[in-house]
Amino acid sequence: MDARQAIAANPFFAEVLEERDIAVLARRALSVTHPAGTMLIHEDGADASLFIIVSGEVEVTAGDQRHGKHIATLGPGAFFGEMALMTGDRRSATVRALTDVEVLEITKSAIAPFLDATPELVERFADVLRKRQAELDRAYGASAFSVLDQGGFADLIRRFFGG
Ligand code: CMP
Repeated sequence: MDARQAIAANPFFAEVLEERDIAVLARRALSVTHPAGTMLIHEDGADASLFIIVSGEVEVTAGDQRHGKHIATLGPGAFFGEMALMTGDRRSATVRALTDVEVLEITKSAIAPFLDATPELVERFADVLRKRQAELDRAYGASAFSVLDQGGFADLIRRFFGG
């Protein structure tokens, strides 16, 4: 499956983006394969791409290495890394490849035009952020986003992207 097919087969993106937008986004995505065990994202890191899983599985954990809590297991079609990309915050959790994993890496500049042009995409990401942050809150206690989130995640994303 090439990048365009992977995005076109993913309802999260395909339901709100035009065919030609999917083709442009796919051209801007970088396909990378990592072996099982690779750390794909380090909690607290300052990098900010998002990754769509094409094949394989990853585990999301939060907290330090020894006391890290299992937060989620994600497989094909799911994405991760969207929280830092959408908000500018540091990485909220650690993501590790459980199997060999193929991902499409999408940078902030690659996705920015589509967020500006497609309010529904912003709303969708905001929904994911709300749910995932609530799960992190349950694992941890308080929310680092509680103040920022007064206007909602959609506003937060739009402000961060300058809209
Ligand atoms: P980010 O904070 O950029 O980097 C760590 C990633 O872990 C985060 O984005 C999400 O993609 C992912 N993540 C955090 N919490 C959850 C959750 N509750 N369920 C699934 N994935 C999560």
